[in-house]
Amino acid sequence: MNAGIDRISFYTSRYCLDLKDLAEARGVDWNKYSIGIGQEVMGIPPPDEDIVTMAASAAKPIIDEVGVEGIDLVLFATESSIDQSKSAGLFLHSLLGLQSRCRLVELKQACYSGTIALRMAALAVAASPKSKALVLTSDIARYELGSPGEPTQGCGAVAMLVTADPSLLSLDPEYGVHAEDVMDFWRPNYRDEALVDGKYSTRIYLNSVSQSWNQYAEITGRTLDDFARCCYHIPFTNMAAKAHDRLLKNAGIIEGRKEIIESKVRESLAYNRITGNTYSASLYEGLTCLFDTASEPLDDKRIGLFSYGSGSVGEFFSGVVTPGYRDSLYTAKHKSVLETRTMVSVQQYEDIFNLNIPTDGWDYRFGEYQTGSFRLAGMHAHKRMYEAVS
Ligand code: CAA
Repeated sequence: MNAGIDRISFYTSRYCLDLKDLAEARGVDWNKYSIGIGQEVMGIPPPDEDIVTMAASAAKPIIDEVGVEGIDLVLFATESSIDQSKSAGLFLHSLLGLQSRCRLVELKQACYSGTIALRMAALAVAASPKSKALVLTSDIARYELGSPGEPTQGCGAVAMLVTADPSLLSLDPEYGVHAEDVMDFWRPNYRDEALVDGKYSTRIYLNSVSQSWNQYAEITGRTLDDFARCCYHIPFTNMAAKAHDRLLKNAGIIEGRKEIIESKVRESLAYNRITGNTYSASLYEGLTCLFDTASEPLDDKRIGLFSYGSGSVGEFFSGVVTPGYRDSLYTAKHKSVLETRTMVSVQQYEDIFNLNIPTDGWDYRFGEYQTGSFRLAGMHAHKRMYEAVS
């Protein structure tokens, strides 16, 4: 039984910051951001946008098109959790009008959790082919103001409908996985910003992709030539390029690596370059971008996917693109989401960054900013109050 991604929908905040302005404010050469790390713009979530509203806005086009019938599993992957107890998926359950016969849970392992969610969902629908699962990946990447990680912030969400006989991508059963207990990036419960050992984290990522790939290659007998394209976890776009470069180097390829990366990886990076890191969503933002922008049809082609979550777990897996997949994409919606954003100044970005959700239990109604289909309207007795935007 084939199982995998039937629909994929991406959303990012309606505000963003041009990294040229950030470079100027921080006294950094703009080429470091645009060429050195490969980022141009980063998404800025306004005070009435959070992981729930972003995930709900990402999921809405899917629900509008296919309805809620049959969706009996919702897996919400995030590392920007809003509650220590209640799953973010339950807030969204009411916003999207999901059916009451529905299992919901929130999953965490840094940026990797969306992948285990996807694979668990695929197993569930393969075992019960009439059922469907909704996998949500939604995150806000935050580092300290002025820190090296600052230009790699961002935000966004990807919603995936997982079904039997999917319209977009059937997942191969094989995978290679590598786990190790390391402190490359983490966020203690008492902090809003992640802590990161930046250069170390990039080395750990590269080791993880090598180990995961080696295991995958041994199990499947496949080589890098078996993939039409490869998508990677994208903390910043050059990291994905470095990951593919590492695998090529490991395979003994000396000449032409730059050109191979251009043809096999570059098309998946354009969205991330202008949203910044979306943590658990970033691999799937890359896949969405590839589907939307590939220069040639990918029907029947195999795609390699590498998911990385600091701490760390890495997984290399793959899928085969369904013939006719282009009929099931939301390309125009994604283009519109990305092209209609409002640029903020560095001062506005810092003001938004320094705003905190009130914790005193009083009633608050938040100012209305531009959001997607839903917004965080305010707080009442320590409860987050959400509403649909008319
Ligand atoms: N023109 C062109 N390139 C320039 C340049 C200039 N003027 N100045 C610097 N560069 C290049 C550097 O040569 C370097 O390139 P290489 O990596 O190819 O050598 C690149 O720009 C970055 O420069 P630095 O290494 O000096 O940058 P930095 O010390 O400021 O830190 C960073 C870079 C470590 C990525 C930092 O942004 C960071 O900590 N980011 C957050 C952590 C992160 O994203 N880690 C990735 C792996 S962990 C993961 O994937 C999980 C996750 O989502 C967080």
